[in-house]
Amino acid sequence: MLRESEARDRTAFVELLASPDVHTYLGGPGPRDVLERDLPEVPERWAGSFVVDLHGAMIGQVLLRRASRHRPSAVGKVDLGYLFLPRAWGFGYAAESCTAALGWFADVLPSEPVVLATQTANVSSMRLAAKLGFTEVERFHAWGAEQWLGMRSSVTPSS
Ligand SMILES: CC(C)(COP(=O)(O)OP(=O)(O)OC[C@H]1O[C@@H](n2cnc3c(N)ncnc32)[C@H](O)[C@@H]1OP(=O)(O)O)[C@@H](O)C(=O)NCCC(=O)NCCS
Repeated sequence: MLRESEARDRTAFVELLASPDVHTYLGGPGPRDVLERDLPEVPERWAGSFVVDLHGAMIGQVLLRRASRHRPSAVGKVDLGYLFLPRAWGFGYAAESCTAALGWFADVLPSEPVVLATQTANVSSMRLAAKLGFTEVERFHAWGAEQWLGMRSSVTPSS
């Protein structure tokens, strides 16, 4: 289930944001003690931030937000992001959640494409992007690694 974040998700957010495995291709994890101290009581509650809930517990986060620091071709477009706790990898939950979020987005803003950036070394993320229908716009070097920028055309909402 996709839902907005709640105070009971705070521990899972700390786990997610402090996990070295989750941040292997994302510039490294945040310091756990700083996250424990500084995360708001209800973390990451903003329009476009979805908690992925499995049987009542948070297993990940899906994000849709305006791209600001992307390549010129992507600036201002909506960008898809996804982070899942390692124990939830390999079950198809990321694909299912992102498909649902993209479906919601296509209903809300039908004509807008979505972009996605990931390191090419992030094989799971590259596979997920392809599964979700993103196609390559360009590859470029930034933050010490090769990056992949993909785009997904708007999908006509189901009536
Ligand atoms: C990127 C990330 C979300 C991918 O998670 P994931 O669980 O591998 O992704 P999916 O939901 O696509 O599931 C993948 C596997 O689940 C398996 N699976 C098991 N049961 C399944 C089911 N019922 N339906 C679909 N897939 C299933 C599939 O074999 C699939 O593997 P495949 O891609 O080889 O077909 C995860 O690795 C992650 O959180 N990484 C850290 C954060 C990160 O790097 N984010 C990218 C930011 S750009």
